Amino acid sequence: MQLARRREQLRPQLAQWRRAGETVALVPTMGALHEGHLALVRCARTRARRTVVSIFVNPAQFGPGEDFHRYPRDEAGDLAKLAALGVDLVYLPDAADMYAPDHRSWVVVEELSEGLCGASRPSFFRGVATVVLKLLLRVRPDLAVFGEKDYQQLLVVRRMVRDLDLDLEVVAHPVVREPDGLALSSRNAYLSPEERRIAPALYRSLCWGRERLLEGAAAEAVCAAIAARLVEAGFRAVDYVELRDAEGLRPLCRFDGRPARLLAAAFLGTTRLIDNLPLSRPA
Ligand code: PAJ
Repeated sequence: MQLARRREQLRPQLAQWRRAGETVALVPTMGALHEGHLALVRCARTRARRTVVSIFVNPAQFGPGEDFHRYPRDEAGDLAKLAALGVDLVYLPDAADMYAPDHRSWVVVEELSEGLCGASRPSFFRGVATVVLKLLLRVRPDLAVFGEKDYQQLLVVRRMVRDLDLDLEVVAHPVVREPDGLALSSRNAYLSPEERRIAPALYRSLCWGRERLLEGAAAEAVCAAIAARLVEAGFRAVDYVELRDAEGLRPLCRFDGRPARLLAAAFLGTTRLIDNLPLSRPA
């Protein structure tokens, strides 16, 4: 497995693969890799001849007062996991390799970036879209794999790829969960044992809400009831619980049979957890 810390170090290998006609998949990450990330890597390995994983804790997507400085970092552990999966190349840029000191250009995906996580994290998706575009331009993959765990992010990236004519396939991977339902996340490392015990209530409450929505209940009442359940379970505050259409994230009054998504973000102590579930008409 090769390592590249600067963008010049990427070029020779990528050029050689391209000359040989080999397909390349990119899996962008911020490291502290867990089974969710590794599932994306395995998916990439089945779909392309070569797999590139990037690890970069992107300062541009953290707001003031967010957890950029304490975000978990484990380079040695990450590299061991990726080597064991047969990854071909890991790109580990630092902030100086990614952003010029006078970097002033940003990618903004309007509307899709605005509600849900975008409401409480106003420049988050601008930071994500910009770094993802830079990674795509540096690696020029045939496909890139993103997790449905960050469902709004997946749609923002898909829209950017379409709107800016990027020539690649965006592959979505379903949410990978712990046996008790908690979605895997690097931020789960922040949870105390007591918080970790409470955390699966997020998934359980969403599952409960999905049943009510599939029965035809109004979204507003169901989402309020999910929020109440989260507080009851021990969550400190609920950021949002919403039913949206699965493709454009337009708010829905109720599930109407077309693909939808039930999405939530809530604080457990100081840790913000997100999760979402698909809704479709039962077969
Ligand atoms: P990060 O949180 O490290 O996640 C990297 C990728 O792993 C994302 O596509 C995310 O959706 C996926 N992922 C994380 N947990 C998952 C889970 N439990 N199941 C399935 N997929 C999961 O998302 C980012 O980094 C950054 O915003 C990034 C796209 C790298 C841009 O900086």
